[in-house]
Amino acid sequence: MGSKEAPYKPYRIKVVEPITLLARTQREQRIKEAYYNVFNLHAKDIYVDLLTDSGTGAMSQEQWAAMMRGDESYAGSRSFSRFEAAVSDIFGFEYLLPTHQGRAAENVLFSAMIKPGDIVPNNMHFDTTRANVLANGGKPVDLVIEEAFEPRKVLPFKGNMDTDRLLSLIEDVGPERIPLIMMTITNNSCGGQPVSLSNLRAVSKIARAHNIPFFIDACRFAENAFFIHEREEGYHEVAPIEIAREIFSLADGITMSAKKDGLVNIGGILAMNDAAIFAATRERLILMEGFPTYGGLAGRDLEAIAVGLYEALDLDYLRDRIGQACYLGEGLKKEGIPIVEPIGGHAVYIDALTLLPGFPQKEFPALSFAVELYVEAGVRAVEVGSVMFAQKDAKGNEIYPKLELVRLAIPRRMYTREHLNTVIGGAAAIAKRKGTLPGYRIVEGEGPLRHFIARFEPIPRN
Ligand code: F0G
Repeated sequence: MGSKEAPYKPYRIKVVEPITLLARTQREQRIKEAYYNVFNLHAKDIYVDLLTDSGTGAMSQEQWAAMMRGDESYAGSRSFSRFEAAVSDIFGFEYLLPTHQGRAAENVLFSAMIKPGDIVPNNMHFDTTRANVLANGGKPVDLVIEEAFEPRKVLPFKGNMDTDRLLSLIEDVGPERIPLIMMTITNNSCGGQPVSLSNLRAVSKIARAHNIPFFIDACRFAENAFFIHEREEGYHEVAPIEIAREIFSLADGITMSAKKDGLVNIGGILAMNDAAIFAATRERLILMEGFPTYGGLAGRDLEAIAVGLYEALDLDYLRDRIGQACYLGEGLKKEGIPIVEPIGGHAVYIDALTLLPGFPQKEFPALSFAVELYVEAGVRAVEVGSVMFAQKDAKGNEIYPKLELVRLAIPRRMYTREHLNTVIGGAAAIAKRKGTLPGYRIVEGEGPLRHFIARFEPIPRN
């Protein structure tokens, strides 16, 4: 399973950004000064930065050229018209609003649609989506298929929603308590796994039968369209842009962070068909983001999105992009490092619990591996495990997540195979001395966002 390696590189390098690899002793010093939290590292001290694929990619010459056309008029700019034309052409919704990034689109939408006590089903909420549902008084419910939690289970569309569970939820709570149904494509929280068109069709049908608006979190819609092109019967000859149009014809609207498949460094989109939802969100947008024709962005940012959305749907680009994730994932597997399979779209996830058997979850195995990867190779990855997700039950006992992952997210059009080889080599070296990895404890920082700010110290081994 999985896409084949990229047959060729559909771009070459025109602008160069210098990076350096510090000496190992310097890296040991820097991570100590960062209190063993990679979010505290300075970018200048990092060699290959795989913290996120969000807003970190390289723009094309066409995008930079378009930015020069930026019309910075407060209202009704030419740049908004070009943004509007591209978004309507690809997504097909009646109304659209620019936002400064994805989570702003979520908050604007949810504050207009969710009432306290409401329930919002999603295949899997991304953390800002979950937080925005909660902040607006709603309860987020994840209904991804059970197999999503089995790291080695290979399925073509492991990001799908379990539609039986959706139907029972609607039956249990009643459609009037569900202001919207959401689907996140690709499913970031379970490993960048795609959702099939047939699953989207089934969810859309259920939503329409119960008169519940159906919104898609479209951050990585082009990558999802590529997986449909590769894996879903009947779509191998269909262009990604046509697949995208079919996906969105099933929905009533989208929230999107353009920092992913908009191929830009900042930007977001909110779009929908319903005039009443539009009126309510437009009002909130003016309050929270800006006038509806710029929504928290500069005119030049709108131009870059208008170009980037099409580039993200280019088949050669997508082959190269998904090919990079495959190259990294297969390289790690060859070194005996367990990863979440099949390899997803934007990132490779190392399965730290399988790699480090017996390492107590309370000592943060995935964090320990991420710290070590920086020390070993100057690579920044991020822990997606107990630091991020452990919760306390009513009695104050820690409940640990099912998976302890190290996410290696690949920025778009940024790194070469040499960089990815450094990541593979670094991880392989750590795997060889995995018995020596220290545990960590938190010395400062708590709450659901502690992963961003917490400070740690290693636990001395006897
Ligand atoms: N939805 C999904 C599926 C995301 O992955 C993200 C961001 C957002 C919404 C929010 O968008 O950052 O523009 O406000 N994901 C990034 C990541 C941060 O690293 O996965 P935003």
